[in-house]
Amino acid sequence: MKLDRRVSAFLPFWLLFLQPAVVLGQSYLYDNRYAGDKVIRVVPENDQEAQTLKILSQQLKVDLWQPGSISYISKGAVTDVRVSRNTSQILLHYLQQANIQYIVLISDLQKAVEEQSGLTSSRNRRSLPEYSYEIYHSLEEIQSWMHHLNKTHSDLVHMLSVGKSYEGRPLLVLKLGKRSRAYKKAVWIDCGIHAREWIGPAFCQWFVKEDRFWRKTRSRNSRFRCHGVDANRNWKVKWCDEGASIHPCDDTYCGPFPESEPEVKAVAHFLRKHRKQIKAYLSFHAYAQMLLYPYSYKYATIPNFSCVESAAFNAVNALQSVYGIRYRYGPASSTLYVSSGSSMDWAYKNGIPYAFAFELRDTGHFGFLLPETLIKPTCTETMLAVKNITMHLLKKCH
Ligand SMILES: *[C@@H]1O[C@H](CO)[C@@H](O)[C@H](O)[C@H]1NC(C)=O
Ligand SMILES: *[C@@H]1O[C@H](CO)[C@@H](O)[C@H](O)[C@H]1NC(C)=O
Ligand SMILES: *[C@@H]1O[C@H](CO)[C@@H](O)[C@H](O)[C@H]1NC(C)=O
Ligand SMILES: *[C@@H]1O[C@H](CO)[C@@H](O)[C@H](O)[C@H]1NC(C)=O
Ligand SMILES: [Zn+2]
Repeated sequence: MKLDRRVSAFLPFWLLFLQPAVVLGQSYLYDNRYAGDKVIRVVPENDQEAQTLKILSQQLKVDLWQPGSISYISKGAVTDVRVSRNTSQILLHYLQQANIQYIVLISDLQKAVEEQSGLTSSRNRRSLPEYSYEIYHSLEEIQSWMHHLNKTHSDLVHMLSVGKSYEGRPLLVLKLGKRSRAYKKAVWIDCGIHAREWIGPAFCQWFVKEDRFWRKTRSRNSRFRCHGVDANRNWKVKWCDEGASIHPCDDTYCGPFPESEPEVKAVAHFLRKHRKQIKAYLSFHAYAQMLLYPYSYKYATIPNFSCVESAAFNAVNALQSVYGIRYRYGPASSTLYVSSGSSMDWAYKNGIPYAFAFELRDTGHFGFLLPETLIKPTCTETMLAVKNITMHLLKKCH
């Protein structure tokens, strides 16, 4: 890529809960833990249906895949829940009684994932002669890979630690780019701010493989449910306003104060320090197939909207040109939902003109359990979108 000489990038990894996906010697993926699980989709047609669905979700303690939190369940909002076989019987019974329409997206999650994966993952990963970019890796594996790159590609890769996670692990950032005296524009990329979105970190690694220039990475640590904070609601921008929760047990808990999380604080500090240089902030999430830009916290368009909008339009078209996968794009608030304290809004408000959040594949068929066979196509098309955005930002836009 031509821009390599001008742009370097920072790819941080925020990995929560990432665990080896496979127990060696066992033939089931993920320890067979999804056997019989179903994923059910409901789109409430009115407020009453939404209310019923909220109560059911709460009482049955479903694993909510979409939207981000129970409080977002509303009329017209696509709601995907994962439930065990037993719970699904109860849920479906109540839905039928209340005459609420539903679709069973996946009738046996374990089967679905294994069919798609062809059990590729049950090999002994550590004996692979080369690091595979088409499987999901554990945090441990990713970190040793990072250390390895830092050692073997010291001309292009510089690894630094920007702080410590809550559990005391180093927050590693890979900086990609040739050493030079000249001022360089940079792009910050983070993947996996939300741990269950595994395709995010897979993309960050793909990105490094494809373009040995940019990268910066960093990790983050696991928390127990009800002890954690949503790291994408903890930033000092309209903190804990609409679309964030003050309740520690909610998935969108904003934390006791802005930047209360050491991970958020460390990255915010780093970004503030380098904000003159960083021209774009890209954050990778899943799943929804969307390309989002500010604002998240309010329904309003940003100044110079058309510039960012056309960057998004082009990126989405570039992405679609590969496999025909369609992405929606627009301000996060109106395209996804309103959320305050997000990293993207924060980056934008702190002077990084191009701030985007990708919601990668798919639209709910596999959801968070996107099979490893889809890592390659997903990353290939996403690379094109990312390159398109970075080309755009090198042009004079205003
Ligand atoms: C599910 O229901 C079956 C019987 O219908 C019961 O044997 C089993 O223990 C239940 N599983 C759970 C996890 O509750
Ligand atoms: C990366 O490698 C350099 C030596 O090339 C070393 O000084 C540095 O400490 C390494 N970074 C980390 C975070 O280990
Ligand atoms: C970006 O995408 C647009 C629209 O598909 C295309 O016209 C343009 O050539 C792409 N630019 C790059 C650098 O890929
Ligand atoms: C918007 O464009 C103007 C020039 O047209 C520029 O001075 C300003 O910095 C831009 N604002 C943002 C937020 O990019
Ligand atoms: Zn996310």
